Amino acid sequence: MKQKVKKAIIPAAGLGTRFLPATKALAKEMLPIVDKPTIQFIVEEALKSGIEDILVITGKSKRSIEDHFDSNFELEYNLEQKGKTDLLKLVNDTTAINLHFIRQSHPRGLGDAVLQAKAFVGNEPFVVMLGDDLMDITDDKAVPLTKQLMNDYEETHASTIAVMKVPHEEVSAYGVIAPQGEGVNGLYSVDTFVEKPAPEEAPSDLAIIGRYLLTPEIFTILETQEPGAGNEVQLTDAIDTLNKTQRVFAREFKGKRYDVGDKFGFMKTSIDYALKHPQIKEDLKAYIIQLGHELDK
Ligand code: UTP
Repeated sequence: MKQKVKKAIIPAAGLGTRFLPATKALAKEMLPIVDKPTIQFIVEEALKSGIEDILVITGKSKRSIEDHFDSNFELEYNLEQKGKTDLLKLVNDTTAINLHFIRQSHPRGLGDAVLQAKAFVGNEPFVVMLGDDLMDITDDKAVPLTKQLMNDYEETHASTIAVMKVPHEEVSAYGVIAPQGEGVNGLYSVDTFVEKPAPEEAPSDLAIIGRYLLTPEIFTILETQEPGAGNEVQLTDAIDTLNKTQRVFAREFKGKRYDVGDKFGFMKTSIDYALKHPQIKEDLKAYIIQLGHELDK
């Protein structure tokens, strides 16, 4: 039966070891891109795509995520008294959202994080949006990747996983698909999904990125899913099992993706976003040109 996709899960309970020591007490999903926490971009993508309910999977040291989306009476009162209506609107915008939170008690892997959402999701298709993966944040006109997956679901009524071509030597950092043939308008049928293959064993350079549209049957599989690569319960392994009983498609993303959980990825995200930010873009451009001259010396 065809159902509408209304719910999104944002897993944000990982340890963020690639970003230590910053992530010892601070959630990496709260790392600011200029002036906006990473997770807020993701919530905005969900809302822009027509998602109505969002569940954030949190864990240890992640209190700031809940606080960010909660009201802050003192701050609001203070801004109101000072007539800072623009800032007040920015602060209020983050509280008027239908957000729910649940904790993953141990970060056993992405598959285990998604399993925590079973009761929230019920028997509906849903999307998973990774808390440290940003898409097209400098292009307001782009169709959000989550919306692209939802559009595919309207046609196929099947799970669809976002993928992207990555340099061959980097495939071992990702889940990778073995596509069946060339794909039609960027939509592929898939033979297998493999987590973190060695480059010489990778079936393609099409890597899974942080947006998934899944049917609820994934939960039954996750309940008995054994740990895989890195001794973590891998969502990719569960998707590969799902693909054996119902078709799972892959949608190739052609836009710009940012891995904020990686130090260099974070720097690129910040620079690209800052170069579009009305308050600082001109100063940053001038600074980059000056840096270029200094590096040339
Ligand atoms: P990552 O593998 O990028 O997150 O997971 P990580 O484990 O925190 O990062 P590193 O490799 O140690 O630096 C992708 C997303 O899935 C969440 C993370 O919070 C991140 O947003 N995740 C991962 C969980 O919610 N639970 C887990 O057990 C693992």
